[in-house]
Amino acid sequence: MKIGGTLVAGPAERSLHGVLQVPGDKSMSHRSVMMAAIADGITEISGFLPGEDCLATARMFESMGVPIEWLNAGRTALRVHGVGLHGLKAPDGVLDAGNSGTCARLMLGLLAGQPFSSTLTGDDSLRRRPMRRVIEPLRRMGANITASGHGDLLPLTIRGGSLAGIDFESEVASAQVKSCVLLAGLYARGLTRVREPRPTRDHTERMLPLFGQPVGEEDGWIVLQPVGALRAPDDVLAIPADPSSAAFFAVAASVVPGSEVVLTHIGVNPRRDGWRRILSAMGADLSTAREHAVGEEPVADIRVRCRQTLAGVEVASRNVPDAIDEFPVLFVAASLAEGDFILRGAAELRVKESDRIAVMARALQALGVEIEEWPDGLRIRGCSRFRGDVEVDAHGDHRVAMAMAVAAQMAEGPVIIRNAAAIATSFPGFVEQARSIGMNVRWLES
Ligand code: S3P
Repeated sequence: MKIGGTLVAGPAERSLHGVLQVPGDKSMSHRSVMMAAIADGITEISGFLPGEDCLATARMFESMGVPIEWLNAGRTALRVHGVGLHGLKAPDGVLDAGNSGTCARLMLGLLAGQPFSSTLTGDDSLRRRPMRRVIEPLRRMGANITASGHGDLLPLTIRGGSLAGIDFESEVASAQVKSCVLLAGLYARGLTRVREPRPTRDHTERMLPLFGQPVGEEDGWIVLQPVGALRAPDDVLAIPADPSSAAFFAVAASVVPGSEVVLTHIGVNPRRDGWRRILSAMGADLSTAREHAVGEEPVADIRVRCRQTLAGVEVASRNVPDAIDEFPVLFVAASLAEGDFILRGAAELRVKESDRIAVMARALQALGVEIEEWPDGLRIRGCSRFRGDVEVDAHGDHRVAMAMAVAAQMAEGPVIIRNAAAIATSFPGFVEQARSIGMNVRWLES
């Protein structure tokens, strides 16, 4: 967990205006470099997220012998010289996924197919996050995995090799688990089939065919029959802007009176678009333009206007996976809505980079919001303005820090947000972009 880094935020001194393109999608950036590394040929990627999470994934492949050329100083464009499905070399040292659950869980799937042994670890936060959900299916496929710490937590040592495809019915709705098993399936004999309790983000299924590996669907099962090689795509692999990052500014523009902000080139894949559906149901004024496809992904510009006070809603459990990463900032919108906002069936939020139900409830309560917490969700009673001159703790969770910077815009005085440095994992440049539309937020010099 990245401790340290203090933000001073709010209140907004004016309405928010501007046109922004947030950085590239985190989920797709991880997957692009993973697939490119084990493909035959050179893959050029644009729109890559140069956040610490995705750079950790890139570094892992470099340490396994994959040459990566960065094409610009901002590290948003790169050329990955793929070594082929069986070309990775044993890493020299321990592989470090930093703060990233996606890096850790998807890499375990890929490492399960390698004929060498490797050890994967992460930071304090990641070493507390559940790994049994990927260990079990990988063991069933034939991987040898041992935990050196407590229980089924990182660090894990994985000896891969001869895998066999399985039918895997996941108990948790998790794209990380699904993708881990599908990536291992590239190395397995026979079919790998995955069924999930609720549909989750499908970037792996959409991206693998760009590398010549079909992924099918049959009676609710996602089916992968390995073709034996991935092939670098002829075209540049372009990554859209991250909807999870856009959501912070969409909520800010929905609650600060008089605001109007346009967010360009945002991924609007239905499995990532739950935040827009929830915010619209709350009465936010969101509209789209320039809808088009980038590779296999739908993309659009999103215009957000602050028109009216939002209203609380009840979020059905089946809609949770499509907005799983946006709840911290949706809780901020809910805290400024009329009536109650109710969320159930969202226990997964407790095992993200922090316990996002508890950490957000504590931070919003410090701002004067009335919240009832349950094991799998919460009830938020909205108010019209937050208390200011308070200090909150983001607990090293990037999305909590950014959500609270948005909340602070509607406070009666400044809000100090401690342990916010982790913003760099998913959204380098957040503070600069926020300031460019008029948000009142800055880093406190230490
Ligand atoms: C991700 C899946 C989600 C999400 C995470 C990224 C991915 O996790 O919370 O930020 O890229 O597959 P789960 O699939 O475990 O819910």
